[in-house]
Amino acid sequence: MFNVDEIRKEFPILKEKINGKDLCYLDNGASAQKPRVVIDSMVKAYELEYANVHRGLHHLSNLATENFEIVREKIRRFLGAKSENEIVFTSGSTEALNLVSYSWGINNLRKGDEIILSVAEHHSNIVPWHFLRERQGVVLKWVEPREDGQIYVEDILLKVSEKTKMIAITHMSNVLGCIVDIKRLCIEARKRNIVTVVDGSQAAVHMPINVYDLDCDFYAITGHKLYGPSSSGALFVAERRFDEMIPFHGGGAMIKSVTFDSVTYNTPPLKFEAGTPGIVPMIGFGAALDFMAMVGIEEIHSHEESLRSILSDELRSLDYIRMQGDLEKKGAIFSFIFSNQIHPHDVATIVDQKGVAIRAGHHCCEPLMKHYGVGATCRASFAMYNTVKEIEVFLNALRLSHELLS
Ligand code: ALA
Repeated sequence: MFNVDEIRKEFPILKEKINGKDLCYLDNGASAQKPRVVIDSMVKAYELEYANVHRGLHHLSNLATENFEIVREKIRRFLGAKSENEIVFTSGSTEALNLVSYSWGINNLRKGDEIILSVAEHHSNIVPWHFLRERQGVVLKWVEPREDGQIYVEDILLKVSEKTKMIAITHMSNVLGCIVDIKRLCIEARKRNIVTVVDGSQAAVHMPINVYDLDCDFYAITGHKLYGPSSSGALFVAERRFDEMIPFHGGGAMIKSVTFDSVTYNTPPLKFEAGTPGIVPMIGFGAALDFMAMVGIEEIHSHEESLRSILSDELRSLDYIRMQGDLEKKGAIFSFIFSNQIHPHDVATIVDQKGVAIRAGHHCCEPLMKHYGVGATCRASFAMYNTVKEIEVFLNALRLSHELLS
């Protein structure tokens, strides 16, 4: 049984007062808070079970390797991948997407080849493709969300030409909250031999993911949004792509052998994991995935869905709020501006005085801001521990901002 009051007790920071008020943390899209088990797992790893991984013959190194490698299986299960070999550890989705650009993109894309992406992508799913534009002469083609804030597969397919080699797309926009129909997109992409790269940074937090069912080529996730530590994350790489990829970083662990005039590489996933990895962050990430599994991904999803539905109705009733992505089927992520041009930074500062943490800015989505003709928006984004009462606190803080700033 999902019990939000019990869940909240597991997150130490939620007891904090901010500006003398109960913390109302609605900046989960930027980073989620951590449950006690995640913090404890990292303290244990450092205090009692720490050594480098993959290298040692001594007890602690073997133990650390075991604690670290077991996370690969946890991520495999979380994402529904076929094999642990398809799970590459990264420091987050930014590194994961850069890995695709380098390891797959440089090796397979040539001048004039096209990559389709949406204007709603986070910069981390834009800049790595700009690198390929600058260095390889690849052409970027952009899909816009429609008026309702949804990105439609039909619109993506309209951009496809014989030169399209890759589609790089978010599963859930960090601004609009819209959910792209990745399964359908991948069916169409596979028919046309187009590689699919999915940024799952937000979607994996809010809905169950199964990459086997989606049938994408690459899927990126980040630990710190999934209740885990920063500097943890993973890239799912479909096995069918292994042979097309060159190594990303060079160093220890990714090699088979090194001589004066040659180098041979390890097999995936280690081929893509050079140097001492984020051992303890990844162990913490594993604990976060265990915690999510214990609470239940479906249960988290339906709790957030009820919060989304309540807040959608409330925001619609405020005539001075303009929402971006006012959709019925979306993640619990709300971006909005005040229609009387009040700056989002001012709103965020005032609600902070009431203990409410929201993000205001361009959300690392400058092309999307340009699309909407705004410099910034406010964003409230929800997690498993948010409550209906917090929605009330947030709305009161918004009403106060409107009164003070109008
Ligand atoms: N990607 C994070 C956000 O959307 C930082 O806020």
